[in-house]
Amino acid sequence: MTDIALPKKDRVLSCIQPTGTPTLGNYLGALRNWVAMQDEFDCAFALADLHAVTVRQEPAKLRAQIYEMFALLMAVGLSPERNLLFVQSQVPAHTQLSWLLSCCTQFGELSRMTQYKEKAAKHADNINLGLFSYPTLMAADILLYQPKYVPVGEDQKQHCELTRNIAQRFNSLYGETFVLPEPYVMKTAARVRSLQDPTKKMSKSDENQNAFISLKDDKDTILRKFRRAVTDSQAHVAYREGADGINNLMEIYKAVTGKEYDAIEREFDGRGYGDFKTAVGEAVAAELGPIQQRFAEYMKDKAQLEQLMKQGAERAAAVSRRTLGKVMKKMGFVQV
Ligand code: TYM
Repeated sequence: MTDIALPKKDRVLSCIQPTGTPTLGNYLGALRNWVAMQDEFDCAFALADLHAVTVRQEPAKLRAQIYEMFALLMAVGLSPERNLLFVQSQVPAHTQLSWLLSCCTQFGELSRMTQYKEKAAKHADNINLGLFSYPTLMAADILLYQPKYVPVGEDQKQHCELTRNIAQRFNSLYGETFVLPEPYVMKTAARVRSLQDPTKKMSKSDENQNAFISLKDDKDTILRKFRRAVTDSQAHVAYREGADGINNLMEIYKAVTGKEYDAIEREFDGRGYGDFKTAVGEAVAAELGPIQQRFAEYMKDKAQLEQLMKQGAERAAAVSRRTLGKVMKKMGFVQV
């Protein structure tokens, strides 16, 4: 026995929606960073399936995607033993805290959210209350676990900042309760762009299949999509202001190979875009190949996936129940 206490690790939390197969953007902007953080931090990662139904989902498809995303999280290298890995809808405290936080969130704040505005424009026939209050559920996901950092891509930064504002407001109304979480956005690949319209982010819900690389795409598909990626007419591999298409490819190549921009420029000096696009495709395919193999293995055993989900949900319920209890007590609810 030793009386030297090990330093407590900082907590990290993040989530991903199980809508469609994740893209290379989700992988480089989020999942890969989660894997890198699991040694250093006390991590909780969840499938935000309740967020997914803010836009219409086909039930059978959603169910299949929940299994797939859970398997994929492990296939990218997240350990269900070392991390808290769970499915949001299986842990009741998320929706419970979401209600309480929605009473501390202003209408004006929610209506300023870029993602809400974009999704409301895209799904004009279904601008539902959940789509509007989505950020309070996200705030609940985060605050229940009292994380110090929330690793996300650039697009989720605004939601994380709102979470901080909600937490701050709660703390000043009811006394210190929540740790103020910080969004943790990596410099490289924080916003991987569409291969067909590099002014937009790469998104799994894009109707144009050539616009994104899915983590399940095979090597030929990956090579073909990169060959067709929209660039410009300069045919000179260099990172430069305004050249979104080539900059995006360089950023992807940098993220996957670890090479700096000047080294990439030297490597492809005088070789044109064709060679470069093939090299990016090859590097991405090499990175995704082993993940796809592990994914196929995990998907063979649904009972094991369910068992791991159950284990994760029980552990997450225990952590989140404590925070919820504290919040309810501070707000004046009677707990019996
Ligand atoms: P979601 O499912 O859209 O995306 C999951 C993660 O992937 C990042 N990402 C990207 N990063 C770089 N380039 C891209 N093109 C790209 N596209 C997506 C996202 O920033 C995110 O980190 N609202 C969240 C899910 C969520 C959540 C939370 C996140 C629910 N509760 C609590 C953090 C904490 C979302 O829709 O992510």
